[in-house]
Amino acid sequence: MSLSFEGRVVLVTGAGGGLGREYALDFAKRGASVVVNDLGADTKGGGKSSAAADKVVEEIKAKGGKAVANYDSVEDGEKLIQAALDSFGRIDIVVNNAGILRDRSFPRTSDLDWDLIQRIHLRGSFLVTRAAWNHMKNQKFGRIIMTASAAGIYGNFGQANYSAAKLGMLGLANTLAIEGRKYNIHCNTIAPVAGSRLTETVMPPDLVASLKPEYVSPLVLWLCHDQCQENGGLFEVGAGWIGKLRWERSRGRIVRQKNQPMNPEAVRDQWDKICDFTDATKPASTGESLQSMVSVLLQLESQETVGANPTAASASAVSTSGINPAQAIGQKLPPSTFNFNHIQCILYALGVGMSTKDPDHLRFLYEGHPDFSCLPTFGVIPSQAAMMDGGLSSVPGLNIDFTQVLHGEQYLELYKPLPTSGELTSQATIADVLDKGSGAVIILDVNTYSRGELVCFNQFSVFVVGAGGFGGKRTSEKAKAVLPPPQRAPDAVVIDSTTRDQAALYRLSGDWNPLHIDPSFAAMGGFQAPILHGLCSFGFAARHVLKQFAANDPSRFKSIKVRFVKPVLPGQSLQTEMWKEGNRIHIQSKVKETDAVVLSGAYIDLHATSEASPENLPQGGGLQSELVFEEIRRRIKDLGSELVKKVNAVFSWEITKDGKNAAQWTIDLKNGGGALHKGPYPGKADLTFTVSDENFVQMVQGKLNPQKVMIK
Ligand code: NAI
Repeated sequence: MSLSFEGRVVLVTGAGGGLGREYALDFAKRGASVVVNDLGADTKGGGKSSAAADKVVEEIKAKGGKAVANYDSVEDGEKLIQAALDSFGRIDIVVNNAGILRDRSFPRTSDLDWDLIQRIHLRGSFLVTRAAWNHMKNQKFGRIIMTASAAGIYGNFGQANYSAAKLGMLGLANTLAIEGRKYNIHCNTIAPVAGSRLTETVMPPDLVASLKPEYVSPLVLWLCHDQCQENGGLFEVGAGWIGKLRWERSRGRIVRQKNQPMNPEAVRDQWDKICDFTDATKPASTGESLQSMVSVLLQLESQETVGANPTAASASAVSTSGINPAQAIGQKLPPSTFNFNHIQCILYALGVGMSTKDPDHLRFLYEGHPDFSCLPTFGVIPSQAAMMDGGLSSVPGLNIDFTQVLHGEQYLELYKPLPTSGELTSQATIADVLDKGSGAVIILDVNTYSRGELVCFNQFSVFVVGAGGFGGKRTSEKAKAVLPPPQRAPDAVVIDSTTRDQAALYRLSGDWNPLHIDPSFAAMGGFQAPILHGLCSFGFAARHVLKQFAANDPSRFKSIKVRFVKPVLPGQSLQTEMWKEGNRIHIQSKVKETDAVVLSGAYIDLHATSEASPENLPQGGGLQSELVFEEIRRRIKDLGSELVKKVNAVFSWEITKDGKNAAQWTIDLKNGGGALHKGPYPGKADLTFTVSDENFVQMVQGKLNPQKVMIK
């Protein structure tokens, strides 16, 4: 259906010629009552004549249209609107079109050149529009057009005054669009190109003839129709083509670091990145603009958060090369203290997807449960707090951009089941710094103690994009390695959906990185939506293994290693694939919906129980105690130096079988990193126990009281 303006009253300023005339004719042709305003000035704003407006009114009337002339300057805004009210009783549409030019190169621009241009274009549009505003507001309908210019958008030699006024009109329109929205008052801006008396001095005659005002007018009519919901738009229009413009903003770069002054050198050094429009965003409101600034503040606040996956602006690779491994390795971060009780344990369990729907989850969700326990992977939380307290950025030799940090890998080992409350103290050390070319890897070892006793060990592998190339080594013997899963179908697969609020819940356990909750922050990092914490997927995978292979018994959990490969979006389903190889369970986690691998090279080691327990040893010949000593050997290997510090003694065990000496073992927890000897011990033991193989195993299993055994 054709667009009608029947019943509408339109004011077109400067309608005595050029573009304005065309608009007036077209509105009238479609039924509008038109106020044809024109001062009848020359192109520089001089002179005055009623002829121009009268001629257009005559043209309209000759075609059966409704129009009146008005000869006031737009500087008398009220009078123009009054003309509409007097003649037609209302005002629906205002097209701010009147204009003049006073082109001069900038230093030659006089006060008058400047003022006249501002007065006619910007102030005139303001005065006319303000006079119409309340009428539009009361009738809940209004359409306003501002006429800007390419000169304002892009600049043009000799038009400093004009450019300023024209872009001033865009600023005016942007705000009117916001203030008018709820009254159905829409304000849009056009930057036209057409042959007219204004352009005939700058364009060749054939172009002036070809770029007809009738190729601009249809856009103005559409924008002014009540069917059109466009508001606050900016359009370039001419020659029959129309395009819309918007602002584009580069992803930019944070050039400040927490607690450090910002300086121009940092701006210089990041200039290319600041100006790089790759993956640029298109902010459309001051709210959006401000939101990203707020996100920057939040990000700087949580600057040491290596929570999970990339932080904002992660894809860039600017070598900051501020790494000095010799200085950094061995540095200790300030110790941190973490106080918690059952609430944190339960919150964490919920955060990694535990639910009362599953009855055997209750031991992790209900503090009144007889076996109430803390999930083993909660062990990452106090150590993570150690880093959030602000350590990493203060390490000498680690002058890196902390916005470029990715959480690459995680290792956690428990030395005893975690308590469900208390105070844990963590001590973090830079174990190694590797040069991977495109980036650096910082290996951070964190020991966590409860009342002086070592409870768990974490190793964070943190990848710093763009910080490589400092000439360091590529690998480290200190790094806990990832392991590929066996080449066969998994022995077990568990699929578990995360909820839409999984990240919102998980972050309450202490990783406050806005990347996991704030959509605009996530967008700055190149993500379609806030992503789940890598350590949340890690928690999901670990509890799947614990349930599948250890009957949810946290005391069976020894250690876990994972590599974070890809992000997960809250609401997606996690598919944990598991392979059992003795007490080692290899894991791979995928997003079920996309089949993308998110955790790779991962495994969990469980403590031996049933299959490898002494009870199940083949009887006859071998001693049952042998297996226990092998386990002791393994623990000494992992923990020897800690144990030596605490125990500082050598124990010998004479194991008897059928009343005869059958084996001798010596546990040295006094010298070096500790050791286990089989057979005659050359040194001196502080204590020697003689015990039968059966009693020893029963004692280890807790079936016999050690004191009773000693007495025997
Ligand atoms: P034009 O000179 O043909 O029309 C402007 C009209 O405004 C004239 O009839 C003039 O008498 C009138 N006018 C001047 N001062 C006035 C005042 N104080 N009160 C009332 N009327 C007044 O020029 P054209 O090309 O039709 O321009 C229309 C609008 O489009 C202007 O705002 C101009 O800046 C803008 N524009 C035009 C371009 C083009 O390619 N023609 C390019 C970019 C912007």
